[in-house]
Amino acid sequence: MEYGSFYETHGTLVSIAGIAKHCKAKRNESKFIILTILSLIMEVKVGGISEFGAKAKVVTTNGKRIAIFKMGSSYYAIDEECTHAKGPLHEGNVNGNVVTCPWHGSQFDITNGRVIKGPAKSNVKSYKVTTEGNDIFVDI
Ligand code: FES
Repeated sequence: MEYGSFYETHGTLVSIAGIAKHCKAKRNESKFIILTILSLIMEVKVGGISEFGAKAKVVTTNGKRIAIFKMGSSYYAIDEECTHAKGPLHEGNVNGNVVTCPWHGSQFDITNGRVIKGPAKSNVKSYKVTTEGNDIFVDI
């Protein structure tokens, strides 16, 4: 979220101008720091609440396929590809906060991406989701 020349990332207000001034002597370093910070605060609108179906939705943003799940009035986002063999998690059955991969049955916790049951051995990445009015945003 941008507030004038300040940016909020993970609850911390960051002044881009302040960092650039601090690193004036090392211009390449300051450019790298600024680009890194901007990449950390990318919040992407992925759709509207009113257009969200009952189950899950997949969106492609910034080259990533992300599955968004609705549980009650809350939304959760995880990587769309199962870590076992890239099965489509948005097509999986959802029971409570658990999605089951439709290909070989791995189970993941929708709220944090953790593997609950294999054959997958690795968690999927989870993303922070926020809503504002009718809009759904994912922190990429
Ligand atoms: S691809 Fe998901 S369990 Fe195999």
